[in-house]
Amino acid sequence: MKQLDRLRTLGLFDARVPRYTSYPTAPVFSAEVGASAQAQALAALDPAEPVSVYLHIPFCERLCWFCACRTQGTKTLSPVESYIGTLEKELALLARTLPEGLRMGRMHWGGGTPTILPPSLIHRLAQAVKAVIPPTGDWEFSVEIDPTMVDRAKISALAEEGMNRASLGIQDFDPKVQEAIGRLQPFDITRACVEDLRAEGISSLNADLVYGLPHQDIARLDDTVSKVLELGPDRVALFGYAHVPWVAKRQALIEEAALPREVARHELANHAAARFTAAGFAAIGIDHFARPEDGLARAAQSGHLRRNFQGYTDDTCPTLIGLGASSISRLPAGYVQNAAATAAYIQRIEAGQLAGARGHVMTGDDLLRARAIEMIMCDFRLDRRALRAAFGKGAASLDPDLARIAARFGDFVTLDSDELRIRDAGRPLTRIIASAFDAHVPDGVRYSQAS
Ligand SMILES: C[S@@+](CC[C@H](N)C(=O)[O-])C[C@H]1O[C@@H](n2cnc3c(N)ncnc32)[C@H](O)[C@@H]1O
Ligand code: SF4
Repeated sequence: MKQLDRLRTLGLFDARVPRYTSYPTAPVFSAEVGASAQAQALAALDPAEPVSVYLHIPFCERLCWFCACRTQGTKTLSPVESYIGTLEKELALLARTLPEGLRMGRMHWGGGTPTILPPSLIHRLAQAVKAVIPPTGDWEFSVEIDPTMVDRAKISALAEEGMNRASLGIQDFDPKVQEAIGRLQPFDITRACVEDLRAEGISSLNADLVYGLPHQDIARLDDTVSKVLELGPDRVALFGYAHVPWVAKRQALIEEAALPREVARHELANHAAARFTAAGFAAIGIDHFARPEDGLARAAQSGHLRRNFQGYTDDTCPTLIGLGASSISRLPAGYVQNAAATAAYIQRIEAGQLAGARGHVMTGDDLLRARAIEMIMCDFRLDRRALRAAFGKGAASLDPDLARIAARFGDFVTLDSDELRIRDAGRPLTRIIASAFDAHVPDGVRYSQAS
Protein backbone atom coordinates (compact mmCIF):
# COMPACT_ATOMS: atom_id res chain seq x y z
CA MET A 1 0.00 0.00 0.00
CA LYS A 2 1.28 3.47 -0.78
CA GLN A 3 2.39 5.54 2.19
CA LEU A 4 -0.41 8.07 1.81
CA ASP A 5 -3.01 5.27 1.71
CA ARG A 6 -1.55 3.84 4.91
CA LEU A 7 -1.75 7.27 6.57
CA ARG A 8 -5.33 7.52 5.31
CA THR A 9 -6.32 4.19 6.86
CA LEU A 10 -4.93 5.48 10.18
CA GLY A 11 -7.30 8.45 10.04
CA LEU A 12 -5.12 11.19 8.55
CA PHE A 13 -7.97 12.69 6.55
CA ASP A 14 -10.92 11.69 8.71
CA ALA A 15 -9.82 12.12 12.30
CA ARG A 16 -11.13 15.22 14.02
CA VAL A 17 -8.79 15.84 16.93
CA PRO A 18 -7.66 18.92 18.89
CA ARG A 19 -4.53 20.94 18.15
CA TYR A 20 -3.62 20.49 21.83
CA THR A 21 -2.63 24.04 22.64
CA SER A 22 -3.64 22.91 26.13
CA TYR A 23 -4.55 19.66 27.85
CA PRO A 24 -7.32 19.26 28.76
CA THR A 25 -8.66 21.34 25.90
CA ALA A 26 -11.01 24.28 26.47
CA PRO A 27 -14.26 22.42 25.52
CA VAL A 28 -13.66 20.20 28.57
CA PHE A 29 -13.61 23.12 31.01
CA SER A 30 -16.48 23.20 33.47
CA ALA A 31 -18.49 26.06 34.94
CA GLU A 32 -17.68 24.72 38.41
CA VAL A 33 -14.32 26.47 38.22
CA GLY A 34 -14.83 30.23 38.15
CA ALA A 35 -13.84 33.55 39.69
CA SER A 36 -13.28 32.36 43.26
CA ALA A 37 -10.96 29.52 42.19
CA GLN A 38 -9.23 32.05 39.94
CA ALA A 39 -8.69 34.47 42.86
CA GLN A 40 -7.33 31.73 45.10
CA ALA A 41 -4.94 30.44 42.45
CA LEU A 42 -3.70 33.95 41.62
CA ALA A 43 -3.15 34.81 45.29
CA ALA A 44 -1.13 31.60 45.74
CA LEU A 45 1.38 32.41 42.96
CA ASP A 46 5.04 32.40 43.95
CA PRO A 47 6.26 36.00 43.49
CA ALA A 48 9.80 34.75 42.88
CA GLU A 49 8.70 33.13 39.61
CA PRO A 50 8.03 35.55 36.70
CA VAL A 51 4.73 35.05 34.90
CA SER A 52 3.62 35.41 31.30
CA VAL A 53 0.67 37.65 30.49
CA TYR A 54 -1.76 37.32 27.56
CA LEU A 55 -4.09 40.16 26.63
CA HIS A 56 -7.00 39.59 24.27
CA ILE A 57 -8.34 42.42 22.09
CA PRO A 58 -11.54 41.03 20.55
CA PHE A 59 -12.08 43.69 17.88
CA CYS A 60 -11.34 43.96 14.17
CA GLU A 61 -12.25 46.60 11.64
CA ARG A 62 -12.81 43.91 9.02
CA LEU A 63 -13.98 40.37 9.65
CA CYS A 64 -12.11 37.95 7.42
CA TRP A 65 -14.37 35.08 6.38
CA PHE A 66 -11.84 32.32 7.09
CA CYS A 67 -11.05 33.46 10.62
CA ALA A 68 -11.93 31.28 13.60
CA CYS A 69 -10.56 33.66 16.24
CA ARG A 70 -12.81 35.16 18.92
CA THR A 71 -13.43 38.64 17.68
CA GLN A 72 -16.11 41.07 16.60
CA GLY A 73 -16.25 43.79 13.97
CA THR A 74 -16.35 47.48 14.77
CA LYS A 75 -16.15 50.54 12.58
CA THR A 76 -15.64 52.94 15.46
CA LEU A 77 -13.16 53.13 18.31
CA SER A 78 -15.69 53.76 21.06
CA PRO A 79 -16.24 50.08 22.05
CA VAL A 80 -12.48 49.56 21.90
CA GLU A 81 -11.78 52.51 24.18
CA SER A 82 -14.43 51.39 26.62
CA TYR A 83 -12.96 47.84 26.56
CA ILE A 84 -9.53 49.24 27.51
CA GLY A 85 -11.25 50.86 30.49
CA THR A 86 -12.62 47.43 31.46
CA LEU A 87 -9.16 45.88 31.11
CA GLU A 88 -7.84 48.56 33.47
CA LYS A 89 -10.51 47.56 35.96
CA GLU A 90 -9.57 43.89 35.56
CA LEU A 91 -5.95 44.88 36.27
CA ALA A 92 -7.05 46.78 39.39
CA LEU A 93 -8.84 43.61 40.59
CA LEU A 94 -5.67 41.62 39.90
CA ALA A 95 -3.58 44.15 41.82
CA ARG A 96 -5.69 43.40 44.89
CA THR A 97 -5.33 39.65 44.39
CA LEU A 98 -1.76 38.97 43.26
CA PRO A 99 1.12 38.57 45.74
CA GLU A 100 3.50 41.51 46.17
CA GLY A 101 6.56 41.59 43.95
CA LEU A 102 5.31 39.48 41.03
CA ARG A 103 7.14 40.23 37.75
CA MET A 104 6.22 39.65 34.11
CA GLY A 105 8.72 37.72 31.92
CA ARG A 106 6.58 37.84 28.79
CA MET A 107 3.57 39.69 27.48
CA HIS A 108 1.62 38.85 24.33
CA TRP A 109 -1.21 40.90 22.82
CA GLY A 110 -3.49 38.85 20.59
CA GLY A 111 -6.93 39.01 19.13
CA GLY A 112 -8.73 40.04 17.15
CA THR A 113 -6.53 42.89 16.14
CA PRO A 114 -4.43 44.54 18.86
CA THR A 115 -3.23 47.06 16.27
CA ILE A 116 -6.74 48.48 16.08
CA LEU A 117 -5.61 50.47 19.17
CA PRO A 118 -4.40 54.01 18.44
CA PRO A 119 -1.08 55.09 20.03
CA SER A 120 -2.81 56.71 23.03
CA LEU A 121 -4.62 53.45 23.92
CA ILE A 122 -1.47 51.38 23.29
CA HIS A 123 0.36 53.48 25.89
CA ARG A 124 -2.56 53.45 28.32
CA LEU A 125 -2.91 49.67 28.20
CA ALA A 126 0.82 48.87 28.36
CA GLN A 127 1.30 51.26 31.28
CA ALA A 128 -1.68 49.76 33.12
CA VAL A 129 -0.25 46.23 32.86
CA LYS A 130 3.28 47.29 33.84
CA ALA A 131 1.97 49.18 36.87
CA VAL A 132 0.45 45.97 38.24
CA ILE A 133 3.03 43.40 37.06
CA PRO A 134 6.33 45.12 36.26
CA PRO A 135 8.41 43.46 33.53
CA THR A 136 11.70 41.71 34.20
CA GLY A 137 14.84 43.25 32.65
CA ASP A 138 14.93 40.69 29.84
CA TRP A 139 11.21 40.46 29.17
CA GLU A 140 9.73 39.68 25.78
CA PHE A 141 6.74 41.66 24.48
CA SER A 142 5.08 40.32 21.34
CA VAL A 143 2.07 41.63 19.43
CA GLU A 144 -0.12 40.22 16.65
CA ILE A 145 -0.09 42.77 13.86
CA ASP A 146 -2.50 43.11 10.97
CA PRO A 147 -0.34 44.87 8.35
CA THR A 148 -3.42 46.59 6.89
CA MET A 149 -4.47 47.92 10.29
CA VAL A 150 -1.25 49.50 11.52
CA ASP A 151 0.90 52.55 10.79
CA ARG A 152 4.27 53.90 11.81
CA ALA A 153 2.82 55.82 14.79
CA LYS A 154 1.25 52.65 16.25
CA ILE A 155 4.44 50.65 15.69
CA SER A 156 6.44 53.41 17.29
CA ALA A 157 4.12 53.43 20.34
CA LEU A 158 4.42 49.64 20.68
CA ALA A 159 8.22 49.84 20.34
CA GLU A 160 8.35 52.57 23.01
CA GLU A 161 6.44 50.27 25.33
CA GLY A 162 9.03 47.55 24.75
CA MET A 163 7.59 45.40 21.93
CA ASN A 164 10.50 43.29 20.72
CA ARG A 165 8.69 40.65 18.65
CA ALA A 166 5.95 41.12 16.05
CA SER A 167 3.70 38.49 14.54
CA LEU A 168 2.29 39.44 11.13
CA GLY A 169 -0.99 38.04 9.85
CA ILE A 170 -0.40 37.15 6.19
CA GLN A 171 -2.27 33.89 5.33
CA ASP A 172 -1.73 34.03 1.53
CA PHE A 173 -0.65 36.78 -0.88
CA ASP A 174 -2.57 35.56 -3.91
CA PRO A 175 -5.38 38.01 -4.85
CA LYS A 176 -7.82 35.23 -5.79
CA VAL A 177 -7.26 33.42 -2.51
CA GLN A 178 -7.51 36.69 -0.60
CA GLU A 179 -10.79 37.51 -2.31
CA ALA A 180 -12.15 34.05 -1.46
CA ILE A 181 -11.33 34.47 2.25
CA GLY A 182 -12.59 38.06 2.47
CA ARG A 183 -9.18 39.50 3.32
CA LEU A 184 -7.46 41.82 0.89
CA GLN A 185 -3.85 42.47 1.79
CA PRO A 186 -1.48 43.74 -0.90
CA PHE A 187 2.14 42.63 -0.66
CA ASP A 188 3.34 46.26 -0.82
CA ILE A 189 1.41 47.15 2.32
CA THR A 190 2.84 44.16 4.13
CA ARG A 191 6.37 45.02 2.99
CA ALA A 192 5.94 48.64 4.12
CA CYS A 193 4.80 47.35 7.53
CA VAL A 194 7.92 45.18 7.81
CA GLU A 195 10.10 48.17 6.86
CA ASP A 196 8.43 50.28 9.57
CA LEU A 197 8.94 47.51 12.13
CA ARG A 198 12.62 47.21 11.27
CA ALA A 199 13.05 51.00 11.30
CA GLU A 200 11.62 50.98 14.84
CA GLY A 201 14.18 48.35 15.86
CA ILE A 202 11.87 45.31 15.83
CA SER A 203 14.01 42.67 14.21
CA SER A 204 12.23 39.59 15.45
CA LEU A 205 9.35 38.82 13.09
CA ASN A 206 6.90 35.96 12.75
CA ALA A 207 4.66 35.44 9.72
CA ASP A 208 1.33 33.55 9.97
CA LEU A 209 0.40 31.59 6.85
CA VAL A 210 -2.49 29.24 6.24
CA TYR A 211 -2.63 26.28 3.85
CA GLY A 212 -5.84 24.66 2.65
CA LEU A 213 -7.55 27.96 1.74
CA PRO A 214 -10.02 28.21 -1.16
CA HIS A 215 -8.38 28.32 -4.61
CA GLN A 216 -4.95 27.74 -3.13
CA ASP A 217 -2.76 25.54 -5.31
CA ILE A 218 0.94 24.74 -5.34
CA ALA A 219 1.82 27.61 -7.71
CA ARG A 220 -0.06 30.21 -5.66
CA LEU A 221 1.29 28.99 -2.34
CA ASP A 222 4.78 28.78 -3.83
CA ASP A 223 4.55 32.43 -4.83
CA THR A 224 3.31 33.36 -1.34
CA VAL A 225 6.27 31.54 0.22
CA SER A 226 8.70 33.41 -2.08
CA LYS A 227 7.19 36.73 -1.03
CA VAL A 228 7.31 35.75 2.64
CA LEU A 229 10.99 34.80 2.30
CA GLU A 230 11.61 38.22 0.75
CA LEU A 231 10.25 39.78 3.95
CA GLY A 232 12.91 37.92 5.95
CA PRO A 233 10.96 36.65 8.99
CA ASP A 234 12.81 34.57 11.54
CA ARG A 235 9.74 32.47 12.31
CA VAL A 236 6.82 31.22 10.25
CA ALA A 237 3.62 29.54 11.40
CA LEU A 238 1.94 27.49 8.67
CA PHE A 239 -1.50 26.62 10.01
CA GLY A 240 -3.83 24.16 8.34
CA TYR A 241 -7.07 25.97 7.55
CA ALA A 242 -9.63 24.89 10.15
CA HIS A 243 -13.00 24.97 8.41
CA VAL A 244 -15.44 24.93 11.32
CA PRO A 245 -18.48 26.94 10.18
CA TRP A 246 -20.55 25.42 13.00
CA VAL A 247 -18.28 27.41 15.41
CA ALA A 248 -17.11 30.36 13.27
CA LYS A 249 -20.36 31.36 11.57
CA ARG A 250 -18.66 33.77 9.15
CA GLN A 251 -16.97 30.79 7.48
CA ALA A 252 -20.34 30.13 5.84
CA LEU A 253 -19.12 32.74 3.32
CA ILE A 254 -16.29 30.44 2.25
CA GLU A 255 -17.04 28.58 -0.97
CA GLU A 256 -16.58 24.98 0.13
CA ALA A 257 -16.25 23.68 -3.43
CA ALA A 258 -13.10 25.81 -3.83
CA LEU A 259 -11.36 24.28 -0.80
CA PRO A 260 -8.44 21.99 -1.68
CA ARG A 261 -9.39 18.36 -1.04
CA GLU A 262 -7.54 16.11 1.39
CA VAL A 263 -4.58 15.02 -0.73
CA ALA A 264 -4.14 18.46 -2.28
CA ARG A 265 -4.12 19.96 1.20
CA HIS A 266 -1.47 17.48 2.33
CA GLU A 267 0.65 18.36 -0.72
CA LEU A 268 0.30 22.08 -0.06
CA ALA A 269 1.62 21.64 3.48
CA ASN A 270 4.50 19.47 2.25
CA HIS A 271 5.40 21.89 -0.51
CA ALA A 272 5.55 24.94 1.76
CA ALA A 273 7.48 22.97 4.38
CA ALA A 274 10.03 21.89 1.76
CA ARG A 275 10.47 25.50 0.63
CA PHE A 276 11.07 26.77 4.15
CA THR A 277 13.51 24.01 5.06
CA ALA A 278 15.35 24.52 1.74
CA ALA A 279 15.63 28.21 2.66
CA GLY A 280 17.42 27.25 5.88
CA PHE A 281 14.54 27.20 8.36
CA ALA A 282 14.30 24.42 10.94
CA ALA A 283 10.93 22.66 11.06
CA ILE A 284 9.44 23.11 14.53
CA GLY A 285 6.67 20.82 15.76
CA ILE A 286 3.70 20.24 13.48
CA ASP A 287 3.37 23.67 11.87
CA HIS A 288 6.19 26.14 12.65
CA PHE A 289 9.54 27.00 11.05
CA ALA A 290 12.36 29.04 12.54
CA ARG A 291 15.80 30.25 11.59
CA PRO A 292 18.38 28.06 13.39
CA GLU A 293 19.60 30.98 15.54
CA ASP A 294 16.04 31.86 16.65
CA GLY A 295 14.98 31.03 20.22
CA LEU A 296 12.27 28.63 19.03
CA ALA A 297 14.76 26.58 16.98
CA ARG A 298 17.23 26.55 19.86
CA ALA A 299 14.49 25.42 22.26
CA ALA A 300 13.48 22.63 19.86
CA GLN A 301 17.11 21.58 19.48
CA SER A 302 17.70 21.39 23.23
CA GLY A 303 14.37 19.72 24.07
CA HIS A 304 12.91 22.85 25.73
CA LEU A 305 10.17 23.60 23.24
CA ARG A 306 6.74 24.11 24.85
CA ARG A 307 3.19 24.25 23.57
CA ASN A 308 0.87 27.10 24.53
CA PHE A 309 -2.24 28.86 23.26
CA GLN A 310 -0.27 30.66 20.54
CA GLY A 311 1.16 27.37 19.23
CA TYR A 312 4.84 26.77 20.03
CA THR A 313 6.99 28.78 22.39
CA ASP A 314 10.35 28.86 24.10
CA ASP A 315 8.62 30.49 27.07
CA THR A 316 9.53 28.62 30.23
CA CYS A 317 7.21 30.55 32.61
CA PRO A 318 4.85 27.88 34.02
CA THR A 319 2.15 30.49 34.74
CA LEU A 320 0.18 32.42 32.15
CA ILE A 321 -2.26 35.11 33.28
CA GLY A 322 -4.92 35.76 30.63
CA LEU A 323 -6.69 39.14 30.58
CA GLY A 324 -9.70 40.17 28.57
CA ALA A 325 -12.69 38.36 27.11
CA SER A 326 -12.22 34.61 26.54
CA SER A 327 -8.59 34.60 27.74
CA ILE A 328 -7.36 31.46 29.40
CA SER A 329 -5.03 31.54 32.42
CA ARG A 330 -2.77 28.59 33.10
CA LEU A 331 -2.17 28.54 36.85
CA PRO A 332 -0.43 25.92 39.00
CA ALA A 333 -3.81 24.53 40.09
CA GLY A 334 -5.27 24.39 36.58
CA TYR A 335 -6.92 26.46 33.86
CA VAL A 336 -9.42 29.30 34.20
CA GLN A 337 -11.08 30.94 31.21
CA ASN A 338 -12.63 34.40 31.38
CA ALA A 339 -16.20 34.76 30.15
CA ALA A 340 -15.95 34.23 26.39
CA ALA A 341 -18.49 36.73 25.10
CA THR A 342 -17.18 40.28 25.34
CA ALA A 343 -20.45 41.56 26.84
CA ALA A 344 -20.43 38.88 29.55
CA TYR A 345 -16.78 39.59 30.35
CA ILE A 346 -17.46 43.34 30.64
CA GLN A 347 -20.49 42.72 32.85
CA ARG A 348 -18.48 40.63 35.33
CA ILE A 349 -15.58 43.05 35.58
CA GLU A 350 -17.83 46.10 35.84
CA ALA A 351 -19.62 44.31 38.71
CA GLY A 352 -16.27 44.22 40.52
CA GLN A 353 -15.52 40.49 40.10
CA LEU A 354 -12.81 38.60 38.29
CA ALA A 355 -14.17 37.25 34.99
CA GLY A 356 -13.26 33.53 35.35
CA ALA A 357 -16.29 31.58 34.08
CA ARG A 358 -15.02 28.09 33.27
CA GLY A 359 -11.97 26.04 34.02
CA HIS A 360 -10.38 22.81 35.04
CA VAL A 361 -8.55 21.74 38.20
CA MET A 362 -5.60 19.56 37.22
CA THR A 363 -5.36 16.10 38.80
CA GLY A 364 -2.08 14.17 38.94
CA ASP A 365 -3.25 12.12 35.95
CA ASP A 366 -4.02 15.31 33.98
CA LEU A 367 -0.54 16.67 34.67
CA LEU A 368 1.06 13.45 33.46
CA ARG A 369 -1.05 13.29 30.29
CA ALA A 370 -0.58 17.02 29.62
CA ARG A 371 3.18 16.57 29.67
CA ALA A 372 2.99 13.40 27.54
CA ILE A 373 0.87 15.20 24.92
CA GLU A 374 3.13 18.25 24.99
CA MET A 375 6.20 16.04 24.39
CA ILE A 376 4.50 14.38 21.41
CA MET A 377 3.37 17.71 19.92
CA CYS A 378 6.78 19.39 20.46
CA ASP A 379 9.37 16.65 20.04
CA PHE A 380 7.52 13.83 18.16
CA ARG A 381 8.79 11.74 21.04
CA LEU A 382 7.62 10.74 24.47
CA ASP A 383 10.54 10.52 26.88
CA ARG A 384 9.49 7.73 29.24
CA ARG A 385 12.55 8.19 31.44
CA ALA A 386 11.81 11.89 31.95
CA LEU A 387 8.18 11.07 32.77
CA ARG A 388 9.26 8.42 35.31
CA ALA A 389 11.67 10.94 36.89
CA ALA A 390 8.92 13.58 37.13
CA PHE A 391 5.89 11.42 37.97
CA GLY A 392 7.42 8.31 39.58
CA LYS A 393 5.43 5.07 39.40
CA GLY A 394 2.36 7.00 38.20
CA ALA A 395 4.00 7.27 34.77
CA ALA A 396 3.20 3.57 34.27
CA SER A 397 -0.47 4.46 33.87
CA LEU A 398 0.40 5.46 30.28
CA ASP A 399 1.67 1.95 29.48
CA PRO A 400 -1.65 0.63 28.09
CA ASP A 401 -1.92 3.72 25.82
CA LEU A 402 1.66 3.22 24.63
CA ALA A 403 0.98 -0.43 23.83
CA ARG A 404 -2.17 0.50 21.89
CA ILE A 405 -0.27 3.18 19.93
CA ALA A 406 2.52 0.74 19.04
CA ALA A 407 -0.04 -1.81 17.84
CA ARG A 408 -2.14 0.67 15.86
CA PHE A 409 0.54 2.81 14.25
CA GLY A 410 2.98 0.00 13.43
CA ASP A 411 6.23 1.11 11.85
CA PHE A 412 5.23 4.80 11.89
CA VAL A 413 6.38 4.69 15.56
CA THR A 414 9.05 2.94 17.61
CA LEU A 415 8.55 2.01 21.25
CA ASP A 416 11.05 0.78 23.83
CA SER A 417 11.44 1.15 27.59
CA ASP A 418 12.99 4.61 27.16
CA GLU A 419 10.81 6.29 24.59
CA LEU A 420 7.99 6.34 22.09
CA ARG A 421 9.23 7.98 18.90
CA ILE A 422 7.22 9.03 15.86
CA ARG A 423 9.26 8.33 12.76
CA ASP A 424 9.50 11.02 10.08
CA ALA A 425 6.96 9.28 7.85
CA GLY A 426 4.49 9.19 10.74
CA ARG A 427 4.68 12.91 11.60
CA PRO A 428 1.43 13.81 9.79
CA LEU A 429 -0.27 11.56 12.41
CA THR A 430 1.10 13.53 15.37
CA ARG A 431 -2.22 15.04 16.51
CA ILE A 432 -3.93 11.66 16.21
CA ILE A 433 -1.18 9.95 18.22
CA ALA A 434 -1.32 12.71 20.87
CA SER A 435 -5.08 12.20 21.14
CA ALA A 436 -4.47 8.58 22.22
CA PHE A 437 -3.35 10.00 25.59
CA ASP A 438 -6.44 12.19 25.97
CA ALA A 439 -8.64 10.94 28.78
CA HIS A 440 -11.15 13.79 28.42
CA VAL A 441 -12.77 13.49 25.04
CA PRO A 442 -15.77 15.82 25.32
CA ASP A 443 -19.23 14.85 24.11
CA GLY A 444 -20.61 16.49 21.02
CA VAL A 445 -17.52 18.57 20.13
CA ARG A 446 -16.40 18.54 16.49
CA TYR A 447 -12.81 19.55 15.85
CA SER A 448 -11.14 20.51 12.59
CA GLN A 449 -9.37 17.85 10.53
CA ALA A 450 -6.10 16.46 11.86
CA SER A 451 -3.92 17.20 8.81
C1 LIG B 1 -5.78 36.71 15.69
S1 LIG B 1 -5.40 36.17 14.14
C2 LIG B 1 -4.38 37.39 13.33
C3 LIG B 1 -4.01 38.71 13.80
C4 LIG B 1 -4.50 39.87 12.98
N1 LIG B 1 -5.85 40.13 13.35
C5 LIG B 1 -4.40 39.71 11.48
O1 LIG B 1 -5.43 39.43 10.88
O2 LIG B 1 -3.35 39.89 10.92
C6 LIG B 1 -4.18 34.95 14.43
C7 LIG B 1 -3.94 33.93 13.33
O3 LIG B 1 -4.80 32.82 13.46
C8 LIG B 1 -4.80 32.12 12.22
N2 LIG B 1 -6.16 31.66 11.92
C9 LIG B 1 -7.31 32.33 12.07
N3 LIG B 1 -8.36 31.60 11.67
C10 LIG B 1 -7.87 30.40 11.25
C11 LIG B 1 -8.46 29.22 10.71
N4 LIG B 1 -9.76 29.11 10.51
N5 LIG B 1 -7.64 28.19 10.43
C12 LIG B 1 -6.31 28.28 10.62
N6 LIG B 1 -5.70 29.38 11.11
C13 LIG B 1 -6.46 30.44 11.42
C14 LIG B 1 -4.32 33.08 11.16
O4 LIG B 1 -3.09 32.65 10.61
C15 LIG B 1 -4.16 34.37 11.92
O5 LIG B 1 -3.08 35.15 11.44
S1 SF4 C 1 -7.73 37.31 10.62
FE1 SF4 C 1 -7.28 39.01 12.00
S2 SF4 C 1 -8.35 40.78 11.07
FE2 SF4 C 1 -9.22 38.97 10.12
S3 SF4 C 1 -11.03 38.52 11.40
FE3 SF4 C 1 -9.33 37.27 12.19
S4 SF4 C 1 -8.51 38.46 13.82
FE4 SF4 C 1 -9.74 39.88 12.59
